[in-house]
Amino acid sequence: MSVTRELIDILRQQQRLEKGQWKQLLSQYTKEDREYAAILAREVADKIYGRDIYVRGLIEFTNYCKNDCYYCGIRRSNLHASRYRLTREEILSCAMKGYELGFRTFVLQGGEDAFYTDEKLCQLISEIKQRYPDCAITLSVGEREKSSYQRLYEAGADRYLLRHETALEEHYKRLHPENMSLKHRKQCLYDLKEIGYQVGCGIMVGSPYQTIDSLADDMLFMEALGPHMIGIGPFLPQKDTPFGGKEKGSFHFTLFLLSLLRLAHPKVLLPATTALGTIHPKGREYGILAGANVVMPNLSPVKVRDKYALYDNKICTGEEAAECRGCLEQRIKSVGYQVVTDRGDYKGICTRVG
Ligand code: 5AD
Ligand code: FES
Repeated sequence: MSVTRELIDILRQQQRLEKGQWKQLLSQYTKEDREYAAILAREVADKIYGRDIYVRGLIEFTNYCKNDCYYCGIRRSNLHASRYRLTREEILSCAMKGYELGFRTFVLQGGEDAFYTDEKLCQLISEIKQRYPDCAITLSVGEREKSSYQRLYEAGADRYLLRHETALEEHYKRLHPENMSLKHRKQCLYDLKEIGYQVGCGIMVGSPYQTIDSLADDMLFMEALGPHMIGIGPFLPQKDTPFGGKEKGSFHFTLFLLSLLRLAHPKVLLPATTALGTIHPKGREYGILAGANVVMPNLSPVKVRDKYALYDNKICTGEEAAECRGCLEQRIKSVGYQVVTDRGDYKGICTRVG
């Protein structure tokens, strides 16, 4: 048996590898290894979550952002981005529509927009919670003070997505301007976990300057954090950013990483992301077959969808995409899985650090 295949078996049995083993696996895997990992990953996911796929209604409520990440289309220096904020009424109407469609988790995602003070966000969260007490609220609004995370949690937020982007300091510096720090980002993740949120971290696969070394560090960081959710998708260039001319990430490598993450974190909530659906027309279906168990269709009003352009050619931004739920339901059925009307909480207790 090949060394890489053996490493995949060890990963399945022990849910971890040493750094050197990660580096070997990530640099020497073959097509057969990818397929083997996907089969094992799907077995693990089926054992825990069955054939159920959880859906999250994504509401992209503001594309204002004070940060200037080199890869992101809504970075503050992008003067071509047409900025918008949804009103309270618009957000509530997205939630109402989503509830009727069977969503029991709403993800409020936005740039780091100072307009949304703790007070405004808390108001919004409690209003949604009051109307839909059987729903979970996930926030994805970037780095904030621990006291702010605490207030948002007390207002009713259940989960928080904050991709760490890379766990290697030198790499982080090449993706972000001076004023952003990996240390602070990691601290946010630990704070969120300590407060009691279900926490999601993650990376872009094939982001510029990513290396086998940085990826191995990502694996070790995630082992230490013990996240409830992990969001990964391929890096895709956005033409008005400093990385507009960089190469996109690899579709197959993203699938392989999804499988490895499922093996390392059996219970993790693992979305087949929009970026995966953008890089390949059946990307999300293949993502599920590689071990993912979550999809996050867009609930934002069609008129703003093309404005939340983190990268070029994002799917689900045209008029035809007014109804992502139905579309995704069909796609998921086509590979033998079913969308369920459920909050889709993490199954089990996360015992690691935090
Ligand atoms: N390509 C792929 N993913 C991106 N993100 C931001 N910009 C891009 C891009 N150009 C991801 C980041 C961020 C998440 C909301 O979207 O990982 O955390
Ligand atoms: Fe949005 Fe298919 S999921 S159009």
